[in-house]
Amino acid sequence: QARMRARILEINREAARFFYATLVSPAGQAGLQYFRSRGLTDAVIRRFGLGYAPDSWDALLKHLKGKGFRPEELQLADVVIAGRRGGYYDKFRNRVIYPIIDLRGGVIGFGGRVLDDSKPKYLNTADTLVYKKTRNLYAMNLAKNDTSGTLILAEGYMDVIAMHQAGFSNAVAALGTALTPDQARLMARYAGEVIVAGDADEAGRKAANRDIDILRSAGLKVRMLTLPQGKDPDEFLRRFGPERFSLLLEQSGNDMEYRLAGCREGLNLDSPEGKYEYAKRAVRVLMDLHDVIERDLYIGKLASELSISKDSILEQMKQLSRKKAAAQSRAQFREIQKEAAGFAD
Ligand code: CTP
Ligand code: MN
Ligand code: MN
Ligand code: MN
Ligand code: MN
Repeated sequence: QARMRARILEINREAARFFYATLVSPAGQAGLQYFRSRGLTDAVIRRFGLGYAPDSWDALLKHLKGKGFRPEELQLADVVIAGRRGGYYDKFRNRVIYPIIDLRGGVIGFGGRVLDDSKPKYLNTADTLVYKKTRNLYAMNLAKNDTSGTLILAEGYMDVIAMHQAGFSNAVAALGTALTPDQARLMARYAGEVIVAGDADEAGRKAANRDIDILRSAGLKVRMLTLPQGKDPDEFLRRFGPERFSLLLEQSGNDMEYRLAGCREGLNLDSPEGKYEYAKRAVRVLMDLHDVIERDLYIGKLASELSISKDSILEQMKQLSRKKAAAQSRAQFREIQKEAAGFAD
C-alpha cells in the first residue's frame, strides 16, 4: 500500500504538470482566458499550480500511459474512469483545474471547474489512498507559513485564491464538505483563532453556524465575517478591493455576538414580547457554552441588556437542561426497547 500511495502521488504530480503545461499552451487558451477573466494574475496561477484539462476523452490518459503508468493505477488515483464497456477515459474534461496539495507538498487530488454555468460546476477527486477529503484543507500548505495565529476559513477554491492574491495568505477552505473535527484540529495546529468567511447566502450561513461548534471543540477562538448579501469573499474582493475586505476582517465579531445578533433578528426589543422571545432564544445559545466563566460573562451581558436578573436566566437554563436530559433519557429508553424487541423476534 505504501508503494501504491507513492505511485498515486507520482501520477498526480505528473497530471498536475500536464494540466499546467496545457493551460499555458495554445490548447489551454480557453482556460487561461477563464482565469484571467476572474482576475487572477499569472503569478498566482503559478503559485497555485492551476491548470486546464482539455476537451478530450483521453488526452491525460495517453500522456500518463506514455510516462509508463497503467490505466488501473490511474483509476486508483481517480484521474481516469473505467468505461462500462471496457476501456478508460479522462475524469476531467474541458475544465480548469485546481490541484489540492498536502502539507508535505504532495499533489493529493484535484478540483475541476466548468468554464460556463453547466452542471456539475465542480468535480473533485473522490477519496483515494492519498486523499481523504474530510482530513484536508485547501491551501493549508501555503497558509501554514502564515505567522499571524489566525486562519480564514472560506467555502471555495476561488475564495481562497482571491484572498491569497489580495495578500491574505492565511486563507483555507474545506471545499464543499461540511467542516469536520479533523479539519478543525488541523487548523488548531497552526492557529489559535479562525475567522469564518462563508458565502453570504442561506447555505453559507447555515454552514457557518455549524462550523462554530466544531471549531470551538478544537479549542479555537472563532470570529464571524459578515459579507454584504449575496456575495462570497472572491466577489467581494473583485468589487471592493483588499482594503475594504481588511476592514471586514477587523470588524468581524466573535461567534457569540454573532449568534446573539441572530437571535435578535426580526424582533422588536422595545416590546415585552420581543424581549421575552429574545431571552428564550439567547438562553438556548448560552447553553452551548461549556466554559463556565465565559457562560457567566454572557449571562451577565444578557441580563443587563434586557434588564432582568442573572438568576432568572440561570433558572431558565436549569429548566432547559433538565428538559434536555429528560428528552435524552426518553430517547435512550426507546433505543433499549427497540433492541429488546429485536431480541424477542
Ligand atoms: N463545490 C463542489 N461541487 C459543487 C459545488 C461546489 O465541490 N458542485 C465546492 C467547491 O469546492 C466550491 C465550494 O464548494 O468552491 C463552494 O461552492 P460555491 O459557493 O457554489 O462555488 P464558488 O466557490 O463560489 O465557485 P465559483 O465562484 O467558481 O462559481
Ligand atoms: Mn456557496
Ligand atoms: Mn464564488
Ligand atoms: Mn461561493
Ligand atoms: Mn455544544
